[in-house]
Amino acid sequence: MSAQQTYEVIDEDAAARATSPQELAYEVLVGLSSKPKRLPSRYFYDDRGSELFQEIMACEDYYLTDCEREILQRHAGDVLASMEGAFDLVDLGAGDGAKTRLLLRYAADRGLDVSYVPIDISEGAMGALVESVARDFPGMEVRGLVGEYAGGLRWLAKHRAGRPKLVLFLGSNIGNFDRAQARGFLSRIWTTMGPSDHLVIGFDLKKDIELLLRAYNDSAGITAAFNLNLLTRINRELGANFDLSRFRHYGTYDVRSGAMESYLVSLVDQEVHIEHLRRGFLFREWEPVHTEYSYKYLRSDVDALARDSGFVVVHRFGDQHGWFIDDVWKVAP
Ligand code: AVI
Repeated sequence: MSAQQTYEVIDEDAAARATSPQELAYEVLVGLSSKPKRLPSRYFYDDRGSELFQEIMACEDYYLTDCEREILQRHAGDVLASMEGAFDLVDLGAGDGAKTRLLLRYAADRGLDVSYVPIDISEGAMGALVESVARDFPGMEVRGLVGEYAGGLRWLAKHRAGRPKLVLFLGSNIGNFDRAQARGFLSRIWTTMGPSDHLVIGFDLKKDIELLLRAYNDSAGITAAFNLNLLTRINRELGANFDLSRFRHYGTYDVRSGAMESYLVSLVDQEVHIEHLRRGFLFREWEPVHTEYSYKYLRSDVDALARDSGFVVVHRFGDQHGWFIDDVWKVAP
């Protein structure tokens, strides 16, 4: 990697917390002691979980990725036209950067003066991403930041002050927050944005419930494996003895809240011991453990969210089915 194409760890504590067994132990203790039981979805993404998520995105039942790819393919130019002159393309939650590459390709082919700035809490994932983007876009400045999103954006405000930014929060990642958390998260981003900055944000829309159920209970069982992998992670990192054959994945849609919800359901009465916590947890037959929310939106919900968190909607791009939107927002004047 050249000096032009590299990454730096801007928050050692946050990066260490992300891989700390103490942090996971605390979350598991709180979650499994709660009634009803729950586990946080951010722990899905260990190496195996990230691999399974790539498989989910490639799977036909999980329509979200195809929809967003179609939007970015068709509207890369319109999205980038929001910006004038040189700017940073700041990527929150890039994963392997596949969708972002559509924008980078458009920019590189037209000689736009764009620097790519992914922000991610995992140093391993960041190293791989920076290396592969650097290889594919040799002339482009690539400046990865290892830390939390808000910390990364504050770092940019300080160290690259005055350089406009186009911030990407793609893939319906906002859907994994409940409505109040989504407002809080976006308000925090708002505090780091100036008048020439823009935010590109993806929302999965409310739609036929059968399509939603299929997307989160895919026929190949990849989502089930992704959900169950959370137990494998707890077995490995906290010395637990979850028997995966005694739990099943269950994905359901809550029509009142408008969220797909994932559960792990205990198939029998059982006790699971977690060595790191030096205690056991009882699970009753058919007892659910909540693992994930994926909120779905109406366009009017998105308008309200933008308004409530201090933004205005500048553009809205949709896919051919009307299932998914990518919005371009800027701070309200
Ligand atoms: C990362 N996130 C937007 C995905 C979603 O759709 O909520 C995670 C996922 N969970 C099950 N399938 C995909």
